[in-house]
Amino acid sequence: MSGRLVVVSNRVALPRELRAGGLASAMHAALTERGGLWFGWSGRVAANVPEEPRVETAGAITYVVTDLARADYEAFYLGFSNRTLWPLLHHRPGLLEFERRDLEGYLRVNERFAAQLAARLADDDTVWVHDYHLIPLGLALRARGVGARIGFFLHIPLPPAELLATLPGHHDLLRSLSAYDLVGLQTPADLRALRDYFEREAGARLDGDAIVLPSGRRFRAAVFPIGIDTAHIARQAQAAATNAATRGLMTSLQGRALAIGVDRLDYSKGLPERFEAFGRFLAQHPERRRQVSMMQIAPPTREDVPEYRELRERLEQQAGAINGRHAEPDWMPIRYINRSFQHATLAGYYRVAQIGLVTPLRDGMNLVAKEFVAAQPADDPGVLVLSRFAGAAFELKEALIVNPFDADDTADAIERALGMPLEERKARWQAMHDHLAVHTIGAWRDAFLDALAR
Ligand code: UDP
Ligand code: G6P
Repeated sequence: MSGRLVVVSNRVALPRELRAGGLASAMHAALTERGGLWFGWSGRVAANVPEEPRVETAGAITYVVTDLARADYEAFYLGFSNRTLWPLLHHRPGLLEFERRDLEGYLRVNERFAAQLAARLADDDTVWVHDYHLIPLGLALRARGVGARIGFFLHIPLPPAELLATLPGHHDLLRSLSAYDLVGLQTPADLRALRDYFEREAGARLDGDAIVLPSGRRFRAAVFPIGIDTAHIARQAQAAATNAATRGLMTSLQGRALAIGVDRLDYSKGLPERFEAFGRFLAQHPERRRQVSMMQIAPPTREDVPEYRELRERLEQQAGAINGRHAEPDWMPIRYINRSFQHATLAGYYRVAQIGLVTPLRDGMNLVAKEFVAAQPADDPGVLVLSRFAGAAFELKEALIVNPFDADDTADAIERALGMPLEERKARWQAMHDHLAVHTIGAWRDAFLDALAR
């Protein structure tokens, strides 16, 4: 690759900002070593949006970020991206809200991003667009004469064609994907859904990894499961094992086991179902009371979207009810924390946990599952309880795989994890760790960019 790498995503991991979210943390890891330009939203809503984006350089990354006007934030970000696409792509059409003015705002912001970006691009650059906020960006760039290679990666799931077809305007939106040279997806199921959609709804035919439209336009689509910086997280976890935060947590546990969950406070993460499962586990195994605590870290996210506020209220109520029912003067079953932590701090917490609870109802990948495995000590590793509906379940087959809709299934897995012999824990962990040691974030980036260059 001769020119620059230009990454485009709505959320950008700006220096000094603490942001929970897989895309931003993964792309930061992917760009740190490789270097490049990162274009996207500044995270600010401004009354007067400056014409020119703000430019800032940190290490090998040049950030070019733009504010959003209030109306664009509402229509593009809160509306079409997070009340229409997010629920639909997570297989939740019942939560989908659609307004034409939101779709208009979505297209308007994509046009504006394209205009600002096109002016900065050279034909030997490689442009890599990320996630559901920016599906039409490639087409908008092509319309401005951009000749560079452009790839797209979808970090979240793609539901079956029948569900996609419930989206008003789905034909134009999905067909705009054909403006990319390469479309990357997290899992074989997502790829199957995309190919099936194009065959049924767009009259396309398949030719190897290419999807060919009736117009003759062709683009490639393939699976690239995103990874983590495995060695870095292992080092962070080892270093954090003796720091004040981890020691404080350990002291407070008084020798009890810890089950940890780390998720944005999002309805896709299955948090009410997880709390319910933990409550049931305690009810079914009175002998385990006082032996284990669950710590759920859940930083609030997208709080201007009503469904997220409702979820927050529901979880507060639920955590209170479970603790009220089961707690003892010297033991609290659920520690529920609504704030975010630095990666390095989380790594220490993962390391001292005996169980990682990753039970989303639907998730593109779920990096927390991978980080938990990477952070475990090889001589006494913890057990990952993983939803079959997380993209990570396609790879981490040695986890205890559960159906998060079945609280008893998750409760049984917690019991099994607590009683699992060391040899079995080691064997399961080793297999998952070996996979993650090879399929790293760097390998993911290189595989996608190599395929895009072909
Ligand atoms: N994360 C973090 N601090 C927190 C909570 C989460 O840095 O307090 C990070 C976490 O380590 C992971 C990412 O946010 O790298 C979440 O990614 P994941 O794929 O699990 O879920 P997403 O938020 O993208 O849906
Ligand atoms: C998921 C999405 C990302 C998004 C992140 C955080 O990981 O795939 O595109 O950036 O959640 O959500 P936010 O709305 O804060 O960007």
